[in-house]
Amino acid sequence: MSDKAFAGQHIVVTGGGTGIGRAAALAFADQGAARVTVVGRRAEPLAEVAAQHEAVVPLVADATTEAGVEAIAESVAAHGSLDVLVHNAGIFRPTPLDRLDAESVRGQLDVNVVAPVLLTGRLLPLLTSPGGSIVVVSSISAQRAEAVSSVYAATKAAVDSLVRSWAVELAPKGIRVNGVAPGAVETPILGVGGLTPEEVTAQRAGYAADAPAGRIGQVDDVVPWITRLAEPASAWVTGEIIVMDGGRLLV
Ligand SMILES: NC(=O)c1ccc[n+]([C@@H]2O[C@H](COP(=O)([O-])OP(=O)(O)OC[C@H]3O[C@@H](n4cnc5c(N)ncnc54)[C@H](OP(=O)(O)O)[C@@H]3O)[C@@H](O)[C@H]2O)c1
Repeated sequence: MSDKAFAGQHIVVTGGGTGIGRAAALAFADQGAARVTVVGRRAEPLAEVAAQHEAVVPLVADATTEAGVEAIAESVAAHGSLDVLVHNAGIFRPTPLDRLDAESVRGQLDVNVVAPVLLTGRLLPLLTSPGGSIVVVSSISAQRAEAVSSVYAATKAAVDSLVRSWAVELAPKGIRVNGVAPGAVETPILGVGGLTPEEVTAQRAGYAADAPAGRIGQVDDVVPWITRLAEPASAWVTGEIIVMDGGRLLV
C-alpha cells in the first residue's frame, strides 16, 4: 500500500460528515486524493470535516432525492471524472415489529438502498473506466438474524446483493465494487436512531460483551479496509464484502 495511493484522484463519500464516512474522507485526503467530496444533509458536520483538510469539499445534498443525486452528479461533472465512490450514508432505526410504521421502513430503505442505487446509476458515466472503484458500507447485520432491527438488517442484506451483482455488471468496464461489513462501531449512529445517551451506553456495552474481542470497533478499525479495497493496488479484488467485527459473526 502506497502512502499516496489516491494521488490526484476525485472521491465522493456519502455521509462523510460524521462517523465512519468522516474518517474515511480524511484518510483518502491524507493518502493524496485531489478532491474528496463529502455529502450529507447537514452543513455543519460537513464544514467541520472540510476544515480538517484542504482536499475535503462539503456538499449538502440528500442522497435519497433525485435533486440531491443530481446535485452530486453536477458537482462531480464540474471537476472531471470520479475515481472512487463510497456509499457510506446509512440510518439505523431499531424498532419492534409491532411498532414499525411505513415511514421508518421506507426511510431506512431510502437511505440504505435506494440512494446508493440511484447514485451509482447517475454517476456511472462519470466513473473512471477502467480503474474506477465503488465501496459500499454494509454491516454484519446483513448476515445475522436481528430481532428489533429486522428492517435495517434487510437493507444491508440488499446492499450485499447489490455489491455482488454490480461487481459482475461493471467488471467489463473495469470498475470494481466491494463492501465492508463492520460490527458495532462507536459513531453517532445509535443516538441519531433515537436512543438516549444512557441507552447508547448500555447498547454499546452489550455489543462489546457479545463480541469475542470484548470491545466494539472504532472508525480506525474500519477505514483502512475501505481505502484498501478502493485503491488501485486492489485491481483484482471485486465483489468482496470484508467483515471486521471483533469475531462477532463467529458466535
Ligand atoms: N456504527 C456502527 O455500529 C455501524 C455498524 C455497521 C455498519 N454501519 C454503517 O456505517 C455507515 C456509516 O454510519 P456511522 O456509524 O458512521 O453513522 P453516522 O455517523 O450516523 O453516519 C451516517 C451519515 O449518513 C448521513 N446521511 C444520512 N442520511 C442521509 C441522506 N439522506 N443523504 C445524505 N447523507 C445522509 C448522515 O449525515 P446527515 O444526517 O447530515 O445527512 C451521517 O453523516 C452506515 O451505512 C451504517 O449503516 C455502522
